[in-house]
Amino acid sequence: MSSPAITSLITEEKIKARVHELALEIARTMPADLMIVALLRGSFVFTADLIRALHLVGVRPQVDFMTLGSYGSGTESSGSVNIIRDINEDVTGREVLIVDDILESGRTLTFARNLLIKRGATSSKIAVMLEKPNKRQVEISADFVGFTIPDKFVVGYGLDYANYYRELPFIGFIET
Ligand code: IMP
Ligand code: MG
Repeated sequence: MSSPAITSLITEEKIKARVHELALEIARTMPADLMIVALLRGSFVFTADLIRALHLVGVRPQVDFMTLGSYGSGTESSGSVNIIRDINEDVTGREVLIVDDILESGRTLTFARNLLIKRGATSSKIAVMLEKPNKRQVEISADFVGFTIPDKFVVGYGLDYANYYRELPFIGFIET
């Protein structure tokens, strides 16, 4: 694969500082024994940083992962959401924090939230690293948002294009 130029939008330092602020916000408003359900694959880097930031502020979460599908290998959403890999934990009676990389149309997070509530979670809040404000197809908002970004397709910090660029320590967009 040839490597197009990636323009940095949010630096590694800014991400780090914001993740620690988010951990403080979460610690203030959620119980210490919350359950994190991280949506793979895009959220794995954010989740790894967030749980360690949460540890520093006294939160002791359990963590599980769910893979939901809606995107193909390109940049357009297919519209429908399906479970590719489910969680193992029982969420009955738990306060759940759903963690995802980005809130765009809102379909993925709406599906995840409805599913966990249907399974008996007492509440489900949402933390996303990024949000694109003008792209919502479903009415949903995140409780904790790292950064609101312009309507550009971004990569890095777990976010991919065709499963590439997840390893970038910063968030950027592809020059076209
Ligand atoms: P939704 O449209 O809010 O359901 O977002 C679905 C998923 O699309 C997100 O969890 C991301 O994995 C992916 N996605 C949305 N926007 C971007 C982007 O700009 N870059 C990479 N992935 C994205
Ligand atoms: Mg995703």
